[in-house]
Amino acid sequence: MEISIAIDGPSGSGKSTTARRVAQRLNIYYIDTGAMYRAVALLSMRKNIDLEDKDEISRLSKETNIEFGQITGEDSQKVFLNNEEVTDLIRTNEVDEIVSEVASIPEVREIMLNKQRELARKSGVVMEGRDIGSRVLPGADLKIYLTASLNTRARRRFRELKEKGKQIDFAKVKDNIRLRDEQDKSRSHSPLVRPDDAIEIKTDDFGPNKVVEKIIE
Ligand code: CDP
Repeated sequence: MEISIAIDGPSGSGKSTTARRVAQRLNIYYIDTGAMYRAVALLSMRKNIDLEDKDEISRLSKETNIEFGQITGEDSQKVFLNNEEVTDLIRTNEVDEIVSEVASIPEVREIMLNKQRELARKSGVVMEGRDIGSRVLPGADLKIYLTASLNTRARRRFRELKEKGKQIDFAKVKDNIRLRDEQDKSRSHSPLVRPDDAIEIKTDDFGPNKVVEKIIE
């Protein structure tokens, strides 16, 4: 039997690191659904599409081919957009600023939902995002909801950006996370919620290793 694990939670709650390590430990596929919305956001930006032009963004996402490569080391999995590697390009500040708006378009979500379910049909998965346990894989074998305070999450994201050599101030990072949280929780179509049957783990004082152990257990 193929196992499916859904990990949801807000930005900076530790989903990516945790999900990747669990996937490695169990030797199953890791799917970062945020990367898919980020890829669509990047493409819309490159094509100068107005964020109000929802039809055009939906059309674009239908035609877009998004693929995941191997997990490379601790922190990264290669992401390909129409065969171009965009792993770092989808994690810029500019993409951070528009991605939640792109992800709030119902048609875009439906298209991504189909792609995500198709990926999960092929093999065992750890899938992370905002609506995995609630909508994409409601029958997942295990649902985890990760949280942490806004300050902790902003600090983590700030450190991550700094390590990548990006110049940005802490207040701006925190504002972006706060805004994305609000957008993700309040949108009408599959918002960020904690599924009733999810196990909630607060990660403020709980490093990734401990979270991974708990999930494996
Ligand atoms: O890395 P971080 O947790 O900040 O974000 P992400 O997981 O890469 O997701 C980026 C954005 O995509 C989120 O802020 C959401 O707006 C959107 N998203 C979504 O709506 N549904 C998902 N399943 C995954 C991401």
